[in-house]
Amino acid sequence: MGVSTSSAKSVSPLAAWLFSSIGKKTVVAVTGIFLVLFVCGHLLGNLTFFLGPDIINSYAKHLRDLGPFLWVIRAGLLAILVLHIFFTVSLWKENHAARPEKYVVKNHVKATIFSRTMRLSGLIVFAFVIFHILHYTARTIDPAFQHYETDLHGEMVHNVYKMMVVGFSVPWVSAIYIVSLGLLAFHLSHGIASLFQTLGLSNKQLRPRFEFAGRALAWLLFLGFTSIPVAVLLGVGREALK
Ligand code: HEM
Repeated sequence: MGVSTSSAKSVSPLAAWLFSSIGKKTVVAVTGIFLVLFVCGHLLGNLTFFLGPDIINSYAKHLRDLGPFLWVIRAGLLAILVLHIFFTVSLWKENHAARPEKYVVKNHVKATIFSRTMRLSGLIVFAFVIFHILHYTARTIDPAFQHYETDLHGEMVHNVYKMMVVGFSVPWVSAIYIVSLGLLAFHLSHGIASLFQTLGLSNKQLRPRFEFAGRALAWLLFLGFTSIPVAVLLGVGREALK
């Protein structure tokens, strides 16, 4: 699909499949699975916040200790995100070119608020990830974060716990997180069920179950992540500010 006869001769079968509608959808679904797995793992790591400064600081130290391997993971994650966005945009363009405007309204009858807002939620989550990396990984939004250090069993390590408490003590920062996490939940509410559909693992009977499971996971992630800024705004970790 979309490959002319003359160019098809010079394109390998894999590339032809990759740029067919089903190929693009499969890449979006498979990269989506990896991104969901990352988000679940990241939440589990972040929840160590509630176990106190030593636990989360030691968790962050172990991640940093991965050294060059951490950069391999980061590069892999970035490549997955880029592929997910690139092929999604490519599918949108394809759908837009193929679908006359009058059918758009008809399609919305079956659509939910979650499926209709995929572009907007995806775009805002992407902007959030950039903000979030500048905030907590590059630490350029508040450069003071770079100097937060603490003693962990005789070794000076980065004080991630204090950075989170100071970061979320600013109400507008917490508000950005909570709204963005809500939009991430919107995105996943539709995305998780649809990736099972794309990969051919769903059918008419299973679809409602995948939809329910997808939404349940999406909103559990929302509750888990937002519990941290909400707890900080309610005073958890205040002693780290002294
Ligand atoms: C309240 C919610 C969240 C908190 C408290 C949080 C916390 C953190 C912290 C502390 C770091 C820096 C780790 C370090 O460098 O030591 C980080 C990195 C990161 N977070 Fe989050 N995160 C949250 C939500 C999210 C979400 C929802 C996503 C994805 C959609 C995400 C994606 C990332 C990415 C990609 C990195 C960079 C990882 C790296 O390069 O090392 N985070 N997060």
